[in-house]
Amino acid sequence: MEEEEARASVDIWRYVFGFTDMAVVKCAIELKIPEAVESHPSQPVTLAELSTAVACSPPLLGRIMRFLSHQGIFKEVITKDGLVGGYLNTPLSRLMMSSNRDDKSKAPLILMESSPVMLAPWLKLSAVVSNAATEEGSQPFEVVHGKDVWAYCAEDPRHSEMFNEAMACDTRRLVPVIAGACSDVFEGVSTVVDVGGGKGDALGVLVKAFPWIKGFNFDLPHVVETALKFDGVENVGGDMFERVPNADAVFIKWVLHDWNDEVCIKLLEKCREAIPRKGGKVVIVDAVVGEKKKGDRLEYARLMLDMVMMAHTTRGRERTLEEWDHVITEAGFARYEVRDIDDISSVIIAYVSI
Ligand SMILES: C[S@@+](CC[C@H](N)C(=O)[O-])C[C@H]1O[C@@H](n2cnc3c(N)ncnc32)[C@H](O)[C@@H]1O
Repeated sequence: MEEEEARASVDIWRYVFGFTDMAVVKCAIELKIPEAVESHPSQPVTLAELSTAVACSPPLLGRIMRFLSHQGIFKEVITKDGLVGGYLNTPLSRLMMSSNRDDKSKAPLILMESSPVMLAPWLKLSAVVSNAATEEGSQPFEVVHGKDVWAYCAEDPRHSEMFNEAMACDTRRLVPVIAGACSDVFEGVSTVVDVGGGKGDALGVLVKAFPWIKGFNFDLPHVVETALKFDGVENVGGDMFERVPNADAVFIKWVLHDWNDEVCIKLLEKCREAIPRKGGKVVIVDAVVGEKKKGDRLEYARLMLDMVMMAHTTRGRERTLEEWDHVITEAGFARYEVRDIDDISSVIIAYVSI
């Protein structure tokens, strides 16, 4: 008990000043500190060299670097005299470079989640949660901005670009992993439609990995207007709640978690109608929470993502296996399988027929 209380008196500071991690990391990304460290000819980079490279006041930057090094984001190199001789990047700081060697950067996602537009709804969470039973339709994002996140993006091209790039950075990292781990899923599949495909990066990866596939990147018209152009991928604008373009398979990543069960079932039905009765499949990429796999260090991230859905979407949620079973079965699929890819997201493949 005493030990627990002692731990609590330390842990409480995480909640008192928890925003500091996000704010200082955002600052480092905006100042391009990881890039400056990476490209500097001398390693480790001294504070004087770094201050010149990023045009910052050395005393202030020194405190920023002390904090980030304490958090394991940069590595301090200590001289014989016990002084900080300079800084090196770590695998963590490299994930914060705007673009890094292996396309695993999370910088766009951090910048989007820490933008004023996305932070403001969090301040309404308790008010909305306490009123949820009585005020249908009142969600934190809508309460603050007067519209849902998709309508907001449609009206604000800068935020839309930031949002789409944030989604794309996760997709560029994860879809190659899926292509490797689930290559059998794409065998014999001639056409794939990516529903809510954003900038089109997922299909860009899939058609490269499986060149026999023709891809249709399907999203709202204002999103596909700014989508990338990949050989073998056609950008198609439309509303997924009206009709999903026909294809052999549907790919749908981080879309179903944006919606409540009722809407999710409707959307899965639209996906089912778009694929053949024989051999048709929907490849869902989303989190499965609550599986309590031993040593699974990503469950915290999944549960945070569930809170993000509460703050930013209209009753979206991350789902347990039972909840996935419910929506997939209700939407009329004959069977499904779940593939764990050791990520915050899993791959769920739903089949129209046995
Ligand atoms: C969370 S993002 C996921 C983007 C992409 N699948 C990814 O993982 O990188 C959800 C996507 O759904 C799209 N979307 C929302 N409502 C839609 C609708 N009614 N019809 C088509 N797309 C829609 C958004 O524009 C957005 O690109």
